[in-house]
Amino acid sequence: MDDKAGGRPFAVPAYSVSAGIYDDMVGLCAFEHWEENFERLRSRYGLDTTAVADVACGTGLAAAHLARSGARVFATDLSECMLRVACAKNPGRLISYVKQDMRYLQPPWRVTLVNCATDALNHLMCEDDFGRALASFRASLLPGGAVFFDMNTAWQLREGSDTSSWEFEVEGRRMSWRSAWDEEKKTFTLTMIIRDAGGRGRDVIEVHLERAYDCGWVLEQLERAGFVDAEAMDAAGLGKPSQRTRRLLFVAFG
Ligand SMILES: C[S@@+](CC[C@H](N)C(=O)[O-])C[C@H]1O[C@@H](n2cnc3c(N)ncnc32)[C@H](O)[C@@H]1O
Repeated sequence: MDDKAGGRPFAVPAYSVSAGIYDDMVGLCAFEHWEENFERLRSRYGLDTTAVADVACGTGLAAAHLARSGARVFATDLSECMLRVACAKNPGRLISYVKQDMRYLQPPWRVTLVNCATDALNHLMCEDDFGRALASFRASLLPGGAVFFDMNTAWQLREGSDTSSWEFEVEGRRMSWRSAWDEEKKTFTLTMIIRDAGGRGRDVIEVHLERAYDCGWVLEQLERAGFVDAEAMDAAGLGKPSQRTRRLLFVAFG
């Protein structure tokens, strides 16, 4: 393979190089929204945060927040790069970081809360995998425990896709983004080129995929997985979801 400067970008897994700039790109802003909603709903639903699984924890901002409030947190992600950043930024004796696929969550002890923030569940590209993930979340809960997650809607992913290429800079890294929406498959593809990230002037390319799932379908899957009292809200304001809801927030109980 030609790896000289100016060669074609080489492909790396999603969230590998971008792990180092994720917080500046989206993580910090997403965390602020999550924190505001979580704290409002924590008291509204009396969510017990004694023992938490933070699934697809990314750079660990929610895990750190929960640990600061006294929770014992089992934080998992599929990406070793994200886990490395999480571990470096948010060490602490109350958080254990483990590489684990969210379809097969297996905490070492059963938890009072499963949190899965910032559209991580949209990363599951088939319905069976979505069902597997919910079943493993349910099996990880103590009786009466809760699951708390948010997801991008088709409206958000469709509106957010733009076939033109965007060039910008994050933390001194030059990037180029291009996105595409497939109406039939309800899938969103973000192709991200990070300039000069591969050494010797080489660019790297990450492809991030998301799929939109209908609100009603997700509620059905929650019931099917054995959850009760499931509720869906618009993450902007916590009201009833509408056709133009961009992010859905779900709470359900084991
Ligand atoms: C948009 S980020 C959200 C990260 C974090 N939850 C947050 O709120 O910032 C999506 C995360 O899901 C992780 N992910 C994707 N597929 C996964 C899977 N099958 N199992 C576990 N983590 C996964 C990615 O590695 C990435 O860290």
